This record gives sequence, structure tokens and C-alpha cells, in this order.
Amino acid sequence: MKLDIVILAAGKGTRMKSNRPKVLHEIGGKPMVQRIIDTVSQIDGANIHLVVGHGGDQVRAATVCQPISYADQTEQLGTGHAVKQALVGISHSDAILVLMGDAPLITQESCEQLLGGLDDAAVALLSVHAPDPTGYGRIIRETDGRCVAITEHKDATDIEREITEINTGVIAIRGDVAHQYIDEIGNENVTGEFYLTDIVEIANKHGERVEAVLCDSPDELSGINGRLQQAMCERMFQEREAIRLLEQGVHLVDPGRIDVRGDLACGSDVSIDINCIFNGNVNLGEGVLVGAHSVLQNCSVGAGTVIAPYSHIDGAKIEQSCSIGPYARIRPGTSLAAGAKVGNFVETKNAAVGAGSKISHLSYIGDAQLGSNVNIGAGTITCNYDGVNKYRTEIGDDAFVGSGSNLVAPVVIGKGATIGAGTTLRKDAPDEQLTLTATKQRSLNWAKPSKK
Ligand code: UD1
Ligand code: CA
Repeated sequence: MKLDIVILAAGKGTRMKSNRPKVLHEIGGKPMVQRIIDTVSQIDGANIHLVVGHGGDQVRAATVCQPISYADQTEQLGTGHAVKQALVGISHSDAILVLMGDAPLITQESCEQLLGGLDDAAVALLSVHAPDPTGYGRIIRETDGRCVAITEHKDATDIEREITEINTGVIAIRGDVAHQYIDEIGNENVTGEFYLTDIVEIANKHGERVEAVLCDSPDELSGINGRLQQAMCERMFQEREAIRLLEQGVHLVDPGRIDVRGDLACGSDVSIDINCIFNGNVNLGEGVLVGAHSVLQNCSVGAGTVIAPYSHIDGAKIEQSCSIGPYARIRPGTSLAAGAKVGNFVETKNAAVGAGSKISHLSYIGDAQLGSNVNIGAGTITCNYDGVNKYRTEIGDDAFVGSGSNLVAPVVIGKGATIGAGTTLRKDAPDEQLTLTATKQRSLNWAKPSKK
């Protein structure tokens, strides 16, 4: 049986009170619908269908370049109507798994467990006991335990609202059953919508078996309707990420104080101190230490590198055994070769720093290429911008730049050159020589100003 996964993502998400389509609001730094796509992409051989409608162009643009097909639901007439739009591209002999685009914490295991339910049922749905079932569809069971219907909160009687077993929104349906019965779904209910959940009662009516599989991790259901649920879901997601890292052997000083907003990969013996944020794709090599309050984004950090607290690294490639921070700001296009050092209050951008080179304090190095074992004194500035264009600075191996120097680009400092402290370098400096621009020191007699 082929598997089709239908993700419903056409709704407006009125309760978010936002102009952005709901499924594009982020969990763990990715649009929630992308989190679901990531999860189900791990299921072998699944065709993924995304039902888009409200903000459809934005949803398509945010999920582009992935092997998924789209179905348009121009009017949002309910989840049943949404699934119908995707059925066009699905064969009768397939198994269909429907996921809600606003419930991003679903796991691959639960999806697979639910699909197993189709072996002897026409419809299998994932349910969970919710401490607070308000807003969710309730599972109606016969005395013998059979699941006979789902009643939406808005349509439920007071007695039905007492039921705490709720529909997570994850439903597996045999393709033939979906095709045969989808048109029997009506909209005679409080909202006037076509509820997918009515398929349960319809299937029962036709003598088909429906199974409600009780899932034991209530977190997974967490449908996001408003900002409060988004915030709660974010914490659950972060807790899950922290557990994943701990299980891989990463040392988290406090698993409650890390935020992964993208994909973080760690080698062995990585240690991460409190309140660090990881954005986009971050790769930490073996033994990397990340100091407290650091923010790392789209970067790779080589084995044994130490990042001291309050450092920001974005779009950089850091090789092994480097030393960074505290308070370093490493911006896009920076590369540090092995053993390089970028110290406190140093900003780098578009800079290739050679092996063993040091920029230890209070400098700006932009649009620059440094050889190996270069030493940049405190307060050195590459003057790379004339207000219109950017220019490059090149510094040869073993060069030494004295403190407080301004390197006015374009400019080249030769190998082994020494630049005297306080130099404003406007012309190239030759290899091995000492270059100075400071004027001769003078001391004058003068009258100190006095208070008028
Ligand atoms: C739905 C279920 C409910 C379940 C809950 C779990 C129905 C009728 N109800 O309720 O039983 O407990 O999820 O979170 O299925 N969507 C479309 N097109 C539409 C309507 C919705 O694509 O016309 C999408 C939305 O974008 C959203 C998802 O379907 O991603 C769920 O819709 P929503 O309105 O949030 O359903 P709930 O009321 O939460
Ligand atoms: Ca919902």
C-alpha cells in the first residue's frame, strides 16, 4: 500500500491575531508546518500533500524546493473539505494519513503506530487524555469501547464536554474509504463547516471498523490556536530538543535554559552553558565549549574550540582549537583557521583569519585576509568603507600590527611586517620592515584652560 500524508494548512488562524498564516508561525525557529514536513519526511516512501488556502502563496514560498505536492482549498470550509481537495491526487488503494498543520509536535513513531491501526480498521485516529480538553473534538465510545463518533467542542453537550479523551487531529484513513465516503460529510453543525471528524460516524454507519489509538504523550497533540498555545508548544519543543541532546551525550548545564531554533548537531563531549541560542544550522565539533549567553547562527565550530560567554557568531566557519570571546561578534563571511583567536569586543566580517592568528581586543576586522600567526594589536580598525564602496585589507603571515592602528583599505601588509602603534596606514607596508606614520613626539609649554 502506498502512503499519502495530507497536511492541512489552509486555515487562517484567526485566534493568532496575526497577519501571517498560522502554519508559518514558528516553533523551534522553523514554520510549524515545516516541523511537520521534517518529521514525516523520515517515513519511508510517503507522498506529502500540503493543502494550502489562506496565505497560500506565502505557505508555498516558505516550503518550496521540497518533494511535496500542493492542493488548493480556495475557501476554508472545514477540515473535511480540505482533505477532499487533496484526494484528487490520491489513489483508492493508498493509505492516507491526515495531519493538522497547526500541531507540530507529532512524532514519526506516533504516525507509524497509527498507520499500523489500518491493518484491521478503515479509520484509525490518535487520541489522548487532555487535562483540559476545552476546544478539542471529544472521542465518543460505545460501552464496549468502540469509537463511534467525534463531537467537536462547539457542538458537544455538557455531558460530552466532560469527556477528556480528545482527538489529536491525526487520522489514518484507507484510500477507498476516504474516496467513497468523503462526500457524505455534511455541514449541519454550529460552525457550518465540513468536519473531517464526521468520517468516524459515517464509517461506523457503513459497518467499517474505526479504531481510536490512545497516545500516551499528550504533548504531541498540542494544536496551536493562539499565542499561549504557541508559547507552551515552544517550551515543549525545547524540552524535547534538550532531552535529545542530553541523550546524545551533550553536557547542558541547565536543560531548561537552551533554545534551539533550527538544527543543532553536536560531536561528543560538547558542553553548553546556560541561556545559549542556536539559530539555523549549527554544527559543533567534539569537545566544543559554548559559554553562557552566546548566540550562534548558521555556523560550524571545529573540535576543541572554546567560546567564552556573550559571544555572537553568525555565518562563520570556525576550525579546531580556536578561542573566541567573551563578547566577540563574528559576522557572516568570517573564517577562522585552526588555533585562531578572536577576543573581547572584537567584530569581524568577511574576514579570513589564518592559523594561530590573534585579534585579542577591541578591533574591527572587515573585508580582510590575514595569514597565519598574525598579531593584531588592541583597537585596530580596518577602514574598509569609503561611504560607497568596500575595499580589502591583506595581511601577510607573521605580521604584527601595533595597537590603535587604522588600516585604510585597499592596503597590503607584507609578510613579517611590523606596523607601529597608532599608525594610519594608507599605503602598502613592505615585508619584514617596521612601518610608522606617527609624527615625531613633541612636548610644549602651554597654559591649562581655567574655569571662566
Ligand atoms: C481540529 C479537529 C478536532 C481536534 C483538533 C486538534 C476537526 C473538525 N476538528 O479542530 O477534533 O481536536 O483539530 O488540534 O477536524 N484547515 C484547513 N482548511 C479548513 C479548516 C482547517 O486547511 O477549511 C487546517 C488549519 O489550517 C489547521 C487544521 O486544519 O492547520 C486544523 O484546523 P482548526 O480550525 O485549527 O481545527 P480545530 O478547531 O483545532
Ligand atoms: Ca487547531
